[in-house]
Amino acid sequence: MARIKEVRDERNPGEELTVNGWVRTRRDSKQGFAFIELNDGSCLGNLQIVVDQETKGFAESTKEITTGAALTITGTLKESPGKGQRVELHASELKVLGTADPETFPLQKKRHSFEYLREIAHLRPRSNTFSAIARVRNAASAAIHNFFQERHFLYVHTPIITTSDCEGAGQMFRVTTLDLARLAGIQTEIDYSQDFFGKAASLTVSGQLEAEIYATSTGPCYTFGPTFRAENSNTTRHLAEFWMVEPEIPFFDLNDNMQLAQDFIKHVISHVLETCAEDMEFFNQRIEKTVLETLQHIVDHDFERVSYTDAIEILTSSKKEWEFPVEWGHDLQSEHERFLTEEHFKKPIILFDYPRTIKPFYMRCNDDGKTVRAMDVLVPRIGEIIGGSQREERLDVLEARMKECDLDPEEYWWYLDLRRYGTVPHAGFGLGFERLIQLLTGMQNIRDCIPFPRTPKNAEF
Ligand code: 4AD
Ligand code: MG
Repeated sequence: MARIKEVRDERNPGEELTVNGWVRTRRDSKQGFAFIELNDGSCLGNLQIVVDQETKGFAESTKEITTGAALTITGTLKESPGKGQRVELHASELKVLGTADPETFPLQKKRHSFEYLREIAHLRPRSNTFSAIARVRNAASAAIHNFFQERHFLYVHTPIITTSDCEGAGQMFRVTTLDLARLAGIQTEIDYSQDFFGKAASLTVSGQLEAEIYATSTGPCYTFGPTFRAENSNTTRHLAEFWMVEPEIPFFDLNDNMQLAQDFIKHVISHVLETCAEDMEFFNQRIEKTVLETLQHIVDHDFERVSYTDAIEILTSSKKEWEFPVEWGHDLQSEHERFLTEEHFKKPIILFDYPRTIKPFYMRCNDDGKTVRAMDVLVPRIGEIIGGSQREERLDVLEARMKECDLDPEEYWWYLDLRRYGTVPHAGFGLGFERLIQLLTGMQNIRDCIPFPRTPKNAEF
């Protein structure tokens, strides 16, 4: 058995082989031939199968060879006179493994809207766009591991179930085995000591706090896993379940961190452009006409580094009408971020030194008493793709910050121990993997950049 990618790229006329796949289209000629476009998901291109009355199994199953049917075919490769393909398979034998009733099969040949395809997320990977996204996700994942492995970072598996709220925004999904319905009826306050873990537990919003443990023990490390946020934001950039890449590096400051973030993004883009050329060409033609140009531009230029305070200055002195007001001390909105990266600097930018009041407790405090050593990487079309910081390594400052953020230092005793024993300057960041896939593919909606999106009121499949 050969995968279709291998047949299209590497096999030669004269070879006899067997392929398996699903029918994309079928066209019959008046001379009794049929041309079947077969795809098995290994690449964007189909394999053209030429079938005739001599093909064993064709006559008896001809009615079953419709879009979506699964076939296994044996034949001989021939040079193809057709455009866009080197070879085609002349079938000697054909067998229908699974039929797809044309009356009901939801993925007919015509173009479907992405909204409709989301409703059939179990079948959409059989379409060109979604199989291409799956391959780009795969290549980007491999590039991420390569980048860190080449630099001798340790891949650490941080827990999914957690009892600490890393970002402190109270957006956590609770994990419980308690009978909530019964409890709701008889109690106002839930006694979590009765629960499975003996305390309130949730799905993690970030692996950072645990990554810091390994960074300050075994050296540079990274996590790459699912994270969960119960944000009620119905935007094209938010998911309730998304994957995050979080490197954490000891003996590292914010400038080192910015350089790493830039090298990292460039590496992943270059790898995908190189290994997914056919899929990327497809995205550029069919999804977003500027995607290849944008990505090449990112690879070829340094990111601009701008302080939050300077960014506020740029925004207020621009003549733009904003939907959300710009004011020092407020978080930037998507419209502000996109203006800075798309219109003002026209390339990725790294904003740093944000007001402490809008950032989490663990970021290192600057001497000005107003800002922390935070950094956000903003890219065209997406806005924020990375959030990171240098971490507060001073025990007393960290404890004071926790109290300021209404956190109980006792609950973070293990995190504080890292500062109590052998504390070192360290830094890291988190990259939203689906936002990276949006950047790479040009897809408008983040829900199309993960196989099975979880968003408010939606967790089918
Ligand atoms: O900026 P965030 O909240 O940073 C952290 O979680 C840090 N603990 C990371 C670290 O320093 N180790 O999230 C990091 C990135 C964002 O820049 C964004 O790309 C992505 O995660 N992200 C989301 N992606 C999809 N849906 C959501 N709801 C997201 N929230 C954040
Ligand atoms: Mg952020």
